Amino acid sequence: MLRRLHPEQPDSFAFTPENQAWAEAQIAKFPEGRQASAIIPLMWRAHEQEGWLTRPAIEGIADMLDMAYMRALEVASFYFQFQLQPTGSIANIQICGTTSCMICGAEDLIGVCREKIADAPHTLSADGKFSWEEVECQGACANAPMAMIGKDYYEDLTAERLREIIDELAAGGVPVPGPQNGRFASEPKSGLTSLKEFDSGHRKYNASVQLATDLGETVKRIDGTEVPLLAPWREHGANHQPDPSKVVVRDAPLDIVTETDRIDPAKAAQGDAATSKAKPRQDNTKGPAGEPGPKDPKSVAKTSGATAKAPQMEEDPSGTPDGDSRPAKTAANGAPVARGAAGKTPLPGTADKSAGKPDEGAAGPGAKPATLKAARAGGPDDLKMIKGVGPKLESLLNDMGFYHFDQIAAWSPDEVAWVDQNIIGFKGRVTRDDWVRQAGVLASGGETEFAKRVKKGDVYE
Ligand code: FES
Repeated sequence: MLRRLHPEQPDSFAFTPENQAWAEAQIAKFPEGRQASAIIPLMWRAHEQEGWLTRPAIEGIADMLDMAYMRALEVASFYFQFQLQPTGSIANIQICGTTSCMICGAEDLIGVCREKIADAPHTLSADGKFSWEEVECQGACANAPMAMIGKDYYEDLTAERLREIIDELAAGGVPVPGPQNGRFASEPKSGLTSLKEFDSGHRKYNASVQLATDLGETVKRIDGTEVPLLAPWREHGANHQPDPSKVVVRDAPLDIVTETDRIDPAKAAQGDAATSKAKPRQDNTKGPAGEPGPKDPKSVAKTSGATAKAPQMEEDPSGTPDGDSRPAKTAANGAPVARGAAGKTPLPGTADKSAGKPDEGAAGPGAKPATLKAARAGGPDDLKMIKGVGPKLESLLNDMGFYHFDQIAAWSPDEVAWVDQNIIGFKGRVTRDDWVRQAGVLASGGETEFAKRVKKGDVYE
């Protein structure tokens, strides 16, 4: 069967607030850079909410996980459990057609579906309440034939009983799932022949049917309000999100500060008007012994007048004359040096006067960076060159007033904290992907490994 997107799609998709909170909690389970691992749970929750997986849902989830739409579609179309077309507003009835069920009457059940719902599978009934399909073995062969309806199994079915079940559902009822012929579970139909003691004291239904009956939500669409959201890993797990007000933005370790090495100091020193105002990453290392490499504080100072005014590295007594190649970690006053903490370059005259004040509705710690009302002459930079920024996020950043690498490169730790909190749906990305460092490299005319891959077409948008 071909798995294609349905030709008729809704205009948009949004998780309910409760499902959105749940989805964000799931994403937080995964290590930085591996958030795409949350795709199946998020798609499944969208499926539970809508009854099927729409194109806007697939794209919205891809945006949340910063994945290419195609990658998300590959997942959605691979698993048959994801319905790619509308399903009945009450239920999609899944009839097992595999061997055990087939020889026990599955074809009769399919006949009932054709008669009461629609002649073809994956087609809505005339009233839109039901749809049906044939599925592979559901693992309940001892209770064949069976159908899965919503979250539950209806076993030991007959055509007559399936008709009644459909009628009950249409009338708003929730038929009791499990064996439909009086069996408790999958014991012999004639009754227990051993372990008969089990017969005494058991509840009315077997465990899964009892739970389903207690919950009574077999075919309910899930909006996230069913159970309280519990996400203990956010407080205690290795990937928990720390209180942003307590985040300390530190320089990246020396071994991952490789892009800065690739900046041509001469080119950067010449720089155009825009890049000369960019504040490259506050470098605190030096080149190989005897060479004033690009990491040499003096070389960095050439790339930006603003940086030259930053005293930390220039005056750091633990500097480089002795050939010590270890990074200098403190300023002259002994305080830790945070990226962008000093020498923040003011933006050109078009800076928004509201800079530093939170927008209406914006919340969280930190200070709002300077913004622009529009991109400067020459157009916006391609912010997708920054690893972690996809088309959706680039559009969001533009809407917020950020168009250029040098704007991002100039963010102070306070401003990073503000942006991290206010890019809704992408919280924490600035810090996670170290945008300020990447933007500093790009604003100075350098190229990151990621930007090279984008230009080569190795990164799919
Ligand atoms: S063959 Fe139908 S559940 Fe296994």
